[in-house]
Amino acid sequence: MAKEIKTIAVLTSGGDAPGMNAAIRSVVRTAISRGIKVKGVKRGYMGLLNEEISDMEARNVSDIIQRGGTILGTARCLEFKKPEVQEKAAEICKKHGIDGMVVIGGDGSYRGAQALSRHGINTVGLPGTIDLDIACTDYTIGFDTAVNTAMQAIDKVKDTSSSHERCSIIEVMGRNAGYIALWCGISNGAEDILLPEKYRFNEQEIINHIIESRKKGKTHHLIINAEGIGHSVSMARRIEAATGIETRATILGYMQRGGNPTARDRYYASIMGALAVDVILAGKTNRVIGYKNGKFIDVDIEEALQMEKNIDEYQYEVAQMLTV
Ligand code: ADP
Ligand code: F6P
Repeated sequence: MAKEIKTIAVLTSGGDAPGMNAAIRSVVRTAISRGIKVKGVKRGYMGLLNEEISDMEARNVSDIIQRGGTILGTARCLEFKKPEVQEKAAEICKKHGIDGMVVIGGDGSYRGAQALSRHGINTVGLPGTIDLDIACTDYTIGFDTAVNTAMQAIDKVKDTSSSHERCSIIEVMGRNAGYIALWCGISNGAEDILLPEKYRFNEQEIINHIIESRKKGKTHHLIINAEGIGHSVSMARRIEAATGIETRATILGYMQRGGNPTARDRYYASIMGALAVDVILAGKTNRVIGYKNGKFIDVDIEEALQMEKNIDEYQYEVAQMLTV
């Protein structure tokens, strides 16, 4: 018989993302509406180990849906990878009467959720990351806001870059994933897009492209570089030396991870937060919520972690075609 769920908890883990607050609010209010208790855990798995756990009421999540960041705080807690620490965390959950846990984070955080599930806590993950790098879902909480923030900043840099007829390298976030770079590349009309998944580290190709474009009358050259490739400042220096064209690097950095979430991030995070609670109440565990083919779904965490996410070849081809 499925275990009775009386109390669940929610935590945010890994890099924060705009929309996490909307998800927390939805988890809390759905739980209350469904007649179960809900607790908030501060500072991710670290806070769980330190028993930073408190009851959440509907009013504790008032006026947060529009705010970036996470009211629960987040942390990276490397010791959570140790089996004995995971066991201790599950005991802490039991001590606080926590039967189920919603973990909002990326795939690293799901590993921790899996461990709690193995120890009898019904866990469900929500995809909270600006990187869009979770294979089981076409949407992650925070990506839409981050990509719009980056796009608007890049538009501004492009104005001045065009006026001065410069080449601009703009570095966007994404250590292992190039989705922000790809989306900005297309949305900002970049001449070159450097993605960790695709870049061949052939700077001469970029230099030739800049020289050809100038000959064809282009007055600026915008290169979107993903954080995973990095080295934008030294790249700019080398490109300027090779082309004779003034080249500047701009690193957008953490501004991409903050700010008020877009309508999409508020809306999807709200639906996903509610579904996470309902999945736990249906007696399931070790699941992650996703959005695929227009539907909100839940997937086994192990299956989700085995899936590989690749840059769509056609979309990448379009990005290159449009730089002509
Ligand atoms: P994200 O969740 O955004 O991918 P991280 O990879 O930094 O971010 O993971 C966030 C946290 O999840 C880590 O600090 C750690 O507490 C936990 N975690 C990551 N990997 C594991 C693992 N293999 N086993 C248990 N917990 C993990
Ligand atoms: O949350 C995702 C992300 O912003 C990546 O794009 C980036 O590489 C990483 O987190 C940065 O993490 P930190 O906050 O540890 O610098």
